[in-house]
Amino acid sequence: MPSIAVLPGDGIGHEVLAEGLRVLAAVAPDLTYEHFDLGAERYLRDGTTMPDDVLERFRSEFDCVYLGALGDPRVPSNVHAKDILLGSRFKLDLYINFRPIRLLDARYCPLKDKRPEDVDFVVFRENTEGLYTGIGGQFKRGTPDEIAIEQEINTRKGVERIIRAAFEWAAANGKTKLCMSDKANAMRHGHDLWQRAFKEVAAESPGITTSHLYVDVLTMRMVQAPESFEVIVTNNLFGDIVTDLGAALQGGIGLASSGNINPGVAALFEPVHGSAPDIAGKGIANPLAAILTAGMMLAHLGRAKDERRIQNAVQACLLEGLVTRELGGTLTTRDAGTAVLDALR
Ligand code: NAD
Ligand code: IPM
Ligand code: MN
Repeated sequence: MPSIAVLPGDGIGHEVLAEGLRVLAAVAPDLTYEHFDLGAERYLRDGTTMPDDVLERFRSEFDCVYLGALGDPRVPSNVHAKDILLGSRFKLDLYINFRPIRLLDARYCPLKDKRPEDVDFVVFRENTEGLYTGIGGQFKRGTPDEIAIEQEINTRKGVERIIRAAFEWAAANGKTKLCMSDKANAMRHGHDLWQRAFKEVAAESPGITTSHLYVDVLTMRMVQAPESFEVIVTNNLFGDIVTDLGAALQGGIGLASSGNINPGVAALFEPVHGSAPDIAGKGIANPLAAILTAGMMLAHLGRAKDERRIQNAVQACLLEGLVTRELGGTLTTRDAGTAVLDALR
Protein backbone atom coordinates (compact mmCIF):
# COMPACT_ATOMS: atom_id res chain seq x y z
CA MET A 1 0.00 0.00 0.00
CA PRO A 2 1.95 3.03 -1.20
CA SER A 3 1.61 6.06 1.06
CA ILE A 4 1.39 9.59 -0.29
CA ALA A 5 2.08 12.85 1.52
CA VAL A 6 -0.36 15.45 0.19
CA LEU A 7 0.68 19.09 0.28
CA PRO A 8 -1.85 21.33 -1.51
CA GLY A 9 0.03 24.52 -0.59
CA ASP A 10 -1.47 27.78 -1.78
CA GLY A 11 -4.02 29.24 -4.18
CA ILE A 12 -5.22 26.89 -6.91
CA GLY A 13 -2.97 24.19 -5.44
CA HIS A 14 -5.96 23.19 -3.27
CA GLU A 15 -8.45 23.24 -6.14
CA VAL A 16 -6.41 21.21 -8.62
CA LEU A 17 -5.10 18.66 -6.12
CA ALA A 18 -8.67 17.89 -5.03
CA GLU A 19 -9.39 16.72 -8.59
CA GLY A 20 -6.11 14.82 -8.84
CA LEU A 21 -7.03 12.99 -5.63
CA ARG A 22 -10.48 12.07 -6.97
CA VAL A 23 -8.84 10.55 -10.05
CA LEU A 24 -6.31 8.70 -7.89
CA ALA A 25 -9.12 7.32 -5.73
CA ALA A 26 -10.75 5.90 -8.87
CA VAL A 27 -7.61 4.49 -10.49
CA ALA A 28 -5.56 3.43 -7.46
CA PRO A 29 -7.93 2.92 -4.52
CA ASP A 30 -5.26 1.21 -2.41
CA LEU A 31 -3.11 4.32 -1.89
CA THR A 32 -3.07 5.89 1.57
CA TYR A 33 -2.73 9.60 2.24
CA GLU A 34 -1.68 12.05 4.89
CA HIS A 35 -2.41 15.74 4.35
CA PHE A 36 0.08 18.39 5.41
CA ASP A 37 -1.05 21.87 6.36
CA LEU A 38 1.91 23.84 5.03
CA GLY A 39 1.83 26.98 2.93
CA ALA A 40 1.09 30.69 3.24
CA GLU A 41 -1.91 30.27 5.61
CA ARG A 42 0.13 28.25 8.06
CA TYR A 43 3.09 30.60 7.80
CA LEU A 44 0.91 33.64 8.46
CA ARG A 45 -0.76 31.81 11.36
CA ASP A 46 2.26 30.57 13.28
CA GLY A 47 5.44 31.29 11.32
CA THR A 48 5.98 27.66 10.27
CA THR A 49 7.41 27.08 6.80
CA MET A 50 8.95 23.60 6.48
CA PRO A 51 9.70 21.74 9.71
CA ASP A 52 12.78 19.49 9.52
CA ASP A 53 10.85 16.55 10.96
CA VAL A 54 8.29 16.77 8.14
CA LEU A 55 11.07 16.59 5.57
CA GLU A 56 12.50 13.61 7.42
CA ARG A 57 9.05 11.96 7.35
CA PHE A 58 8.75 12.64 3.61
CA ARG A 59 12.02 10.79 3.19
CA SER A 60 11.42 7.85 5.48
CA GLU A 61 7.66 7.26 5.70
CA PHE A 62 6.18 8.12 2.33
CA ASP A 63 6.55 6.72 -1.16
CA CYS A 64 5.79 10.05 -2.79
CA VAL A 65 4.82 13.63 -2.09
CA TYR A 66 1.95 15.09 -4.15
CA LEU A 67 2.19 18.88 -4.11
CA GLY A 68 -0.11 21.60 -5.48
CA ALA A 69 1.66 24.96 -5.67
CA LEU A 70 3.26 27.53 -3.40
CA GLY A 71 3.15 31.30 -3.59
CA ASP A 72 0.85 33.88 -2.07
CA PRO A 73 0.76 37.66 -2.52
CA ARG A 74 0.41 38.04 1.27
CA VAL A 75 3.96 36.66 1.61
CA PRO A 76 5.93 38.91 -0.73
CA SER A 77 9.27 37.49 0.43
CA ASN A 78 8.10 34.05 -0.76
CA VAL A 79 10.07 32.63 2.18
CA HIS A 80 7.60 29.79 2.81
CA ALA A 81 7.73 28.70 -0.83
CA LYS A 82 11.52 28.73 -0.77
CA ASP A 83 11.59 26.63 2.39
CA ILE A 84 8.88 24.19 1.32
CA LEU A 85 9.45 23.74 -2.39
CA LEU A 86 13.14 24.48 -2.82
CA GLY A 87 13.76 23.06 0.68
CA SER A 88 12.23 19.73 -0.36
CA ARG A 89 14.15 19.68 -3.64
CA PHE A 90 17.46 20.49 -1.97
CA LYS A 91 17.21 18.63 1.32
CA LEU A 92 15.74 15.47 -0.20
CA ASP A 93 18.34 15.87 -2.97
CA LEU A 94 15.68 15.49 -5.69
CA TYR A 95 18.17 16.16 -8.43
CA ILE A 96 16.02 15.23 -11.42
CA ASN A 97 13.22 17.58 -12.39
CA PHE A 98 11.48 15.48 -15.03
CA ARG A 99 9.17 17.56 -17.24
CA PRO A 100 7.51 15.94 -20.25
CA ILE A 101 6.26 18.17 -23.08
CA ARG A 102 3.58 16.22 -24.86
CA LEU A 103 0.86 17.61 -27.10
CA LEU A 104 -2.25 15.49 -26.61
CA ASP A 105 -4.47 17.25 -29.15
CA ALA A 106 -3.31 19.40 -32.08
CA ARG A 107 -6.07 21.97 -31.53
CA TYR A 108 -4.41 23.22 -28.35
CA CYS A 109 -0.98 23.83 -29.89
CA PRO A 110 -0.24 27.51 -30.60
CA LEU A 111 2.09 26.54 -33.49
CA LYS A 112 0.60 26.13 -36.92
CA ASP A 113 0.39 22.68 -38.50
CA LYS A 114 1.96 20.80 -35.59
CA ARG A 115 0.60 17.37 -34.74
CA PRO A 116 0.88 15.50 -31.44
CA GLU A 117 3.81 13.49 -32.79
CA ASP A 118 5.68 16.76 -33.47
CA VAL A 119 5.57 17.90 -29.85
CA ASP A 120 6.70 14.97 -27.74
CA PHE A 121 9.90 15.35 -25.72
CA VAL A 122 11.08 15.50 -22.16
CA VAL A 123 13.24 17.99 -20.31
CA PHE A 124 15.65 16.85 -17.61
CA ARG A 125 16.09 19.95 -15.49
CA GLU A 126 18.89 19.96 -12.91
CA ASN A 127 17.09 20.57 -9.63
CA THR A 128 19.55 21.05 -6.77
CA GLU A 129 22.07 23.70 -7.78
CA GLY A 130 22.67 26.28 -10.54
CA LEU A 131 21.35 29.73 -9.74
CA TYR A 132 18.84 28.44 -7.19
CA THR A 133 20.91 27.79 -4.06
CA GLY A 134 20.57 31.30 -2.65
CA ILE A 135 24.33 31.58 -2.31
CA GLY A 136 25.30 35.22 -2.65
CA GLY A 137 24.56 38.37 -0.78
CA GLN A 138 23.75 42.01 -0.74
CA PHE A 139 26.01 44.83 0.33
CA LYS A 140 25.02 48.46 0.99
CA ARG A 141 21.41 47.47 0.31
CA GLY A 142 19.17 50.40 -0.55
CA THR A 143 22.01 52.81 -1.22
CA PRO A 144 23.27 54.06 -4.59
CA ASP A 145 26.36 51.87 -4.08
CA GLU A 146 24.50 48.64 -3.48
CA ILE A 147 25.78 45.31 -4.77
CA ALA A 148 23.75 42.12 -5.20
CA ILE A 149 25.49 38.85 -5.99
CA GLU A 150 23.72 35.62 -6.97
CA GLN A 151 26.18 32.78 -7.41
CA GLU A 152 25.68 29.97 -9.91
CA ILE A 153 26.78 26.65 -8.48
CA ASN A 154 27.83 23.87 -10.86
CA THR A 155 29.38 20.83 -9.22
CA ARG A 156 30.94 17.97 -11.10
CA LYS A 157 28.71 15.56 -9.21
CA GLY A 158 25.54 17.57 -9.80
CA VAL A 159 26.10 18.18 -13.49
CA GLU A 160 27.21 14.66 -14.26
CA ARG A 161 24.33 12.94 -12.47
CA ILE A 162 21.58 14.90 -14.25
CA ILE A 163 23.24 14.32 -17.62
CA ARG A 164 23.59 10.64 -16.81
CA ALA A 165 19.94 10.45 -15.76
CA ALA A 166 18.88 11.93 -19.11
CA PHE A 167 20.99 9.40 -21.05
CA GLU A 168 19.71 6.50 -18.98
CA TRP A 169 16.10 7.55 -19.45
CA ALA A 170 16.63 7.95 -23.20
CA ALA A 171 18.14 4.46 -23.48
CA ALA A 172 15.40 2.90 -21.36
CA ASN A 173 12.64 4.60 -23.36
CA GLY A 174 13.83 3.94 -26.90
CA LYS A 175 14.91 7.55 -27.54
CA THR A 176 17.94 8.23 -29.70
CA LYS A 177 18.27 12.03 -29.71
CA LEU A 178 19.58 13.95 -26.73
CA CYS A 179 20.32 17.67 -26.64
CA MET A 180 22.26 19.46 -23.91
CA SER A 181 21.68 23.16 -23.55
CA ASP A 182 23.80 25.73 -21.75
CA LYS A 183 25.27 29.17 -22.32
CA ALA A 184 28.94 28.25 -22.42
CA ASN A 185 29.70 31.03 -24.88
CA ALA A 186 29.04 33.59 -22.15
CA MET A 187 29.38 31.58 -18.93
CA ARG A 188 32.82 30.17 -19.44
CA HIS A 189 33.47 28.50 -16.12
CA GLY A 190 30.34 26.68 -15.02
CA HIS A 191 29.08 25.84 -18.46
CA ASP A 192 32.45 24.63 -19.61
CA LEU A 193 32.01 22.04 -16.88
CA TRP A 194 28.65 21.11 -18.46
CA GLN A 195 30.28 20.75 -21.87
CA ARG A 196 33.04 18.47 -20.61
CA ALA A 197 30.73 16.32 -18.49
CA PHE A 198 28.32 15.99 -21.41
CA LYS A 199 31.04 14.80 -23.79
CA GLU A 200 32.28 12.24 -21.29
CA VAL A 201 28.86 10.77 -20.51
CA ALA A 202 27.92 10.85 -24.22
CA ALA A 203 30.99 8.76 -25.04
CA GLU A 204 29.55 5.98 -22.86
CA SER A 205 26.27 5.97 -24.82
CA PRO A 206 27.08 5.23 -28.46
CA GLY A 207 23.44 4.48 -29.39
CA ILE A 208 22.37 8.05 -28.75
CA THR A 209 22.82 10.94 -31.16
CA THR A 210 23.81 13.98 -29.15
CA SER A 211 23.58 17.65 -29.92
CA HIS A 212 24.28 20.89 -28.15
CA LEU A 213 22.39 24.18 -28.36
CA TYR A 214 22.98 27.42 -26.53
CA VAL A 215 19.83 28.11 -24.60
CA ASP A 216 18.83 31.14 -26.66
CA VAL A 217 18.88 29.04 -29.81
CA LEU A 218 17.09 26.22 -27.97
CA THR A 219 14.08 28.46 -27.33
CA MET A 220 13.96 29.37 -31.01
CA ARG A 221 14.23 25.74 -32.16
CA MET A 222 11.57 24.61 -29.68
CA VAL A 223 9.14 26.92 -31.45
CA GLN A 224 10.35 26.40 -35.03
CA ALA A 225 11.00 22.66 -34.93
CA PRO A 226 9.80 20.96 -31.73
CA GLU A 227 9.87 17.68 -33.66
CA SER A 228 13.68 17.75 -33.59
CA PHE A 229 13.74 17.02 -29.85
CA GLU A 230 13.37 13.83 -27.85
CA VAL A 231 15.32 14.51 -24.67
CA ILE A 232 16.75 17.83 -23.47
CA VAL A 233 19.03 18.19 -20.45
CA THR A 234 19.82 21.57 -18.97
CA ASN A 235 20.50 23.47 -15.79
CA ASN A 236 18.07 24.61 -13.11
CA LEU A 237 17.17 28.10 -14.33
CA PHE A 238 17.18 27.34 -18.04
CA GLY A 239 15.08 24.25 -17.32
CA ASP A 240 12.55 26.38 -15.47
CA ILE A 241 12.23 28.79 -18.37
CA VAL A 242 12.16 26.33 -21.26
CA THR A 243 9.56 24.13 -19.56
CA ASP A 244 7.11 27.03 -19.35
CA LEU A 245 7.74 27.53 -23.07
CA GLY A 246 7.23 23.79 -23.51
CA ALA A 247 4.02 24.00 -21.49
CA ALA A 248 2.73 26.59 -23.96
CA LEU A 249 3.56 24.24 -26.87
CA GLN A 250 1.59 21.40 -25.32
CA GLY A 251 -1.49 23.54 -24.82
CA GLY A 252 -0.74 25.69 -21.82
CA ILE A 253 0.55 25.70 -18.31
CA GLY A 254 -2.66 24.00 -17.16
CA LEU A 255 -1.49 20.79 -18.85
CA ALA A 256 2.14 20.52 -17.76
CA SER A 257 3.20 17.94 -15.18
CA SER A 258 6.47 17.29 -13.39
CA GLY A 259 8.32 14.96 -11.08
CA ASN A 260 11.17 15.87 -8.71
CA ILE A 261 13.08 12.64 -8.32
CA ASN A 262 16.05 11.08 -6.59
CA PRO A 263 15.80 7.49 -7.88
CA GLY A 264 15.27 4.96 -5.14
CA VAL A 265 15.21 7.58 -2.40
CA ALA A 266 12.35 10.08 -2.60
CA ALA A 267 10.09 11.79 -5.12
CA LEU A 268 7.77 14.78 -5.21
CA PHE A 269 5.21 15.30 -7.97
CA GLU A 270 3.65 18.67 -8.82
CA PRO A 271 2.08 20.48 -11.73
CA VAL A 272 4.52 22.89 -13.41
CA HIS A 273 2.20 25.85 -12.84
CA GLY A 274 2.10 28.02 -9.74
CA SER A 275 -0.62 29.06 -7.32
CA ALA A 276 -2.22 31.43 -9.89
CA PRO A 277 -3.40 34.10 -7.42
CA ASP A 278 -5.27 35.82 -10.27
CA ILE A 279 -7.79 32.96 -10.52
CA ALA A 280 -7.44 31.28 -7.10
CA GLY A 281 -10.72 30.61 -5.28
CA LYS A 282 -12.82 31.03 -8.42
CA GLY A 283 -13.09 27.33 -9.24
CA ILE A 284 -11.90 27.81 -12.81
CA ALA A 285 -8.32 26.50 -12.68
CA ASN A 286 -7.48 23.69 -15.07
CA PRO A 287 -6.93 20.51 -13.01
CA LEU A 288 -5.50 18.48 -15.92
CA ALA A 289 -1.86 19.24 -15.07
CA ALA A 290 -2.44 18.01 -11.52
CA ILE A 291 -4.29 14.95 -12.87
CA LEU A 292 -1.51 14.11 -15.35
CA THR A 293 0.96 14.63 -12.49
CA ALA A 294 -0.96 12.05 -10.46
CA GLY A 295 -0.53 9.69 -13.40
CA MET A 296 3.19 10.35 -13.45
CA MET A 297 3.31 9.52 -9.74
CA LEU A 298 1.59 6.18 -10.40
CA ALA A 299 4.10 5.37 -13.13
CA HIS A 300 6.85 6.12 -10.62
CA LEU A 301 5.19 3.61 -8.27
CA GLY A 302 5.50 0.99 -11.02
CA ARG A 303 1.98 1.42 -12.41
CA ALA A 304 2.66 2.63 -15.94
CA LYS A 305 -0.65 1.16 -17.14
CA ASP A 306 -2.56 3.37 -14.73
CA GLU A 307 -0.69 6.41 -15.99
CA ARG A 308 -1.69 5.51 -19.55
CA ARG A 309 -5.32 5.15 -18.47
CA ILE A 310 -5.22 8.64 -16.99
CA GLN A 311 -3.49 10.10 -20.04
CA ASN A 312 -6.08 8.52 -22.33
CA ALA A 313 -8.92 9.90 -20.23
CA VAL A 314 -7.39 13.40 -20.27
CA GLN A 315 -6.85 13.13 -24.02
CA ALA A 316 -10.48 12.12 -24.50
CA CYS A 317 -11.63 15.21 -22.58
CA LEU A 318 -9.37 17.42 -24.70
CA LEU A 319 -10.75 15.86 -27.90
CA GLU A 320 -14.32 16.46 -26.73
CA GLY A 321 -13.56 20.02 -25.68
CA LEU A 322 -14.49 19.13 -22.10
CA VAL A 323 -12.05 21.65 -20.70
CA THR A 324 -11.75 24.78 -18.58
CA ARG A 325 -12.04 28.34 -19.89
CA GLU A 326 -8.42 29.11 -20.64
CA LEU A 327 -8.55 26.27 -23.19
CA GLY A 328 -11.76 27.59 -24.72
CA GLY A 329 -14.16 25.40 -22.74
CA THR A 330 -16.80 26.24 -20.17
CA LEU A 331 -16.05 23.75 -17.38
CA THR A 332 -15.25 24.53 -13.79
CA THR A 333 -12.30 22.85 -12.08
CA ARG A 334 -14.67 20.37 -10.46
CA ASP A 335 -16.51 19.60 -13.73
CA ALA A 336 -13.23 19.11 -15.56
CA GLY A 337 -12.25 16.56 -12.88
CA THR A 338 -15.63 14.86 -13.25
CA ALA A 339 -15.17 14.73 -17.04
CA VAL A 340 -11.90 12.84 -16.55
CA LEU A 341 -13.59 10.46 -14.11
CA ASP A 342 -16.38 9.84 -16.66
CA ALA A 343 -13.82 9.23 -19.41
CA LEU A 344 -12.05 6.69 -17.18
CA ARG A 345 -15.24 4.62 -16.87
P1 NAD B 1 1.40 30.76 -12.33
O1 NAD B 1 1.76 29.50 -13.00
O2 NAD B 1 0.79 30.65 -10.99
O3 NAD B 1 0.38 31.59 -13.26
C1 NAD B 1 0.74 32.08 -14.55
C2 NAD B 1 -0.53 32.30 -15.39
O4 NAD B 1 -1.05 31.03 -15.76
C3 NAD B 1 -1.64 33.00 -14.61
O5 NAD B 1 -2.34 33.83 -15.51
C4 NAD B 1 -2.54 31.89 -14.14
O6 NAD B 1 -3.89 32.24 -13.97
C5 NAD B 1 -2.37 30.86 -15.25
N1 NAD B 1 -2.49 29.49 -14.74
C6 NAD B 1 -1.60 28.83 -13.99
N2 NAD B 1 -2.04 27.61 -13.69
C7 NAD B 1 -3.25 27.50 -14.27
C8 NAD B 1 -4.23 26.46 -14.29
N3 NAD B 1 -4.05 25.28 -13.69
N4 NAD B 1 -5.38 26.69 -14.98
C9 NAD B 1 -5.59 27.86 -15.60
N5 NAD B 1 -4.71 28.87 -15.60
C10 NAD B 1 -3.54 28.69 -14.93
O7 NAD B 1 2.70 31.67 -12.29
P2 NAD B 1 2.94 33.09 -11.56
O8 NAD B 1 1.73 33.93 -11.69
O9 NAD B 1 4.23 33.56 -12.06
O10 NAD B 1 3.14 32.70 -10.05
C11 NAD B 1 2.16 32.80 -9.03
C12 NAD B 1 2.77 32.28 -7.74
O11 NAD B 1 3.05 30.89 -7.86
C13 NAD B 1 4.11 32.95 -7.39
O12 NAD B 1 4.16 33.09 -6.00
C14 NAD B 1 5.14 31.96 -7.88
O13 NAD B 1 6.37 32.05 -7.19
C15 NAD B 1 4.42 30.65 -7.57
N6 NAD B 1 4.87 29.49 -8.39
C16 NAD B 1 4.92 28.31 -7.74
C17 NAD B 1 5.22 27.16 -8.43
C18 NAD B 1 5.26 25.87 -7.71
O14 NAD B 1 4.76 25.77 -6.60
N7 NAD B 1 5.81 24.81 -8.27
C19 NAD B 1 5.47 27.23 -9.81
C20 NAD B 1 5.39 28.47 -10.45
C21 NAD B 1 5.09 29.61 -9.73
C1 IPM C 1 8.71 25.82 -10.89
C2 IPM C 1 8.60 27.17 -10.21
C3 IPM C 1 9.66 27.32 -9.13
C4 IPM C 1 11.01 27.20 -9.81
C5 IPM C 1 9.56 28.62 -8.33
C6 IPM C 1 8.22 28.73 -7.63
C7 IPM C 1 10.67 28.78 -7.33
O1 IPM C 1 8.66 28.20 -11.16
O2 IPM C 1 8.64 24.79 -10.21
O3 IPM C 1 8.84 25.78 -12.13
O4 IPM C 1 11.52 28.19 -10.37
O5 IPM C 1 11.56 26.12 -9.80
MN1 MN D 1 8.61 27.50 -13.21
